[in-house]
Amino acid sequence: MARFINLRELAQTTTGWHYQVRAPSNIALIKYWGKKAAQLPCNPSLSMTLAQAYTQSDFDVTRAQKEGELEFLLEGHKKSGFDSKALKLWQLICSKYPELLNYNIRIDTRNTFPHGAGIASSASGMAALALGLLALVGESDLKVISSFARLGSGSACRSLYPNFALWGQSEISAASSDDYACEYPEYHADFSQLRDAIVIVSGEEKSVSSSQGHDLMKTHPYGQRRFEVARQNLKTLSAALKSGDWNSFIEVVEREAFELHSLMMTGTPSYTLMTPATLDFIIRFRKWRDQAQVKAAFTLDAGPNIHVIHAASEAKRVQVWLETLIAEGFSARTLFDHMGAGAYIIAGGESL
Ligand code: DP6
Repeated sequence: MARFINLRELAQTTTGWHYQVRAPSNIALIKYWGKKAAQLPCNPSLSMTLAQAYTQSDFDVTRAQKEGELEFLLEGHKKSGFDSKALKLWQLICSKYPELLNYNIRIDTRNTFPHGAGIASSASGMAALALGLLALVGESDLKVISSFARLGSGSACRSLYPNFALWGQSEISAASSDDYACEYPEYHADFSQLRDAIVIVSGEEKSVSSSQGHDLMKTHPYGQRRFEVARQNLKTLSAALKSGDWNSFIEVVEREAFELHSLMMTGTPSYTLMTPATLDFIIRFRKWRDQAQVKAAFTLDAGPNIHVIHAASEAKRVQVWLETLIAEGFSARTLFDHMGAGAYIIAGGESL
């Protein structure tokens, strides 16, 4: 499996080719919530890259006789209207690499995870699109690819990297930048191969888009304070990751999830994305986790579903507890995922 192939050289010798891009989703432990112009974050964020939840985009490319055509498909079917984020990203990439207009490009996209599962499809989708288009012009610098992915969707810039990704300038890493994400390599062995059990309590569409949520932060009474607290939370998390301190990890990851939701609840307009089932789950989970001393923390995305981030050594205990909870009547579906290797390209492609 090639992590990167230089299609610019291939373009000189062939008239058409096929390649596949796989980009995973990610779950933020320190949340990006609030942005400035050009999709720059108001605070740094840190995420865990997933493995099983990914977007696969099949690229079929031929040289165009005149002006090239772009075609987006979803699971093999023509889309009636273009996804606005995808179209915007295509235009931005073309403005820097106009040679892309010399190709006919057909992109067929599918996700391995269901819609409404609490897994961000814009993160994996925009990362796949940026990686796939930039491969065509021979761009292999992950910083450049990440900064374009960011312009598609902020959280997408983190999806390119393995394990943990850091996006946004922070004193915890000299490599950090607001423009692009970087890998965050400094963590204790206890935090390697983390698992994520996703507890789907509702498959409904989100009632508020992330973009609306970010907008809310511009006038939010706690906005400026939140950006400071997020920086502090990141420092605490980074220290916990380095030293292998699970208690501190749990405290800060769970606080971040509640901060995100309380910002939504206290904004104007106000949104509640948690449901009674979300809180019911969290209360039961914390009680069991604290009693049984499990290395596990919950986090939430901008929705009602819960991610239980846990040590690889706890996978069996978490799975059995979740199965028992559901067997006893708690209504939910589960998806099990783990820390992944980031985005990559497969020359020729493979079927999913
Ligand atoms: C709650 O990246 O989806 O998932 O930049 O507008 O596309 P846009 O927003 P998006 O926001 C993600 C918000 C979050 C937290 C996070 O992933 O850091």
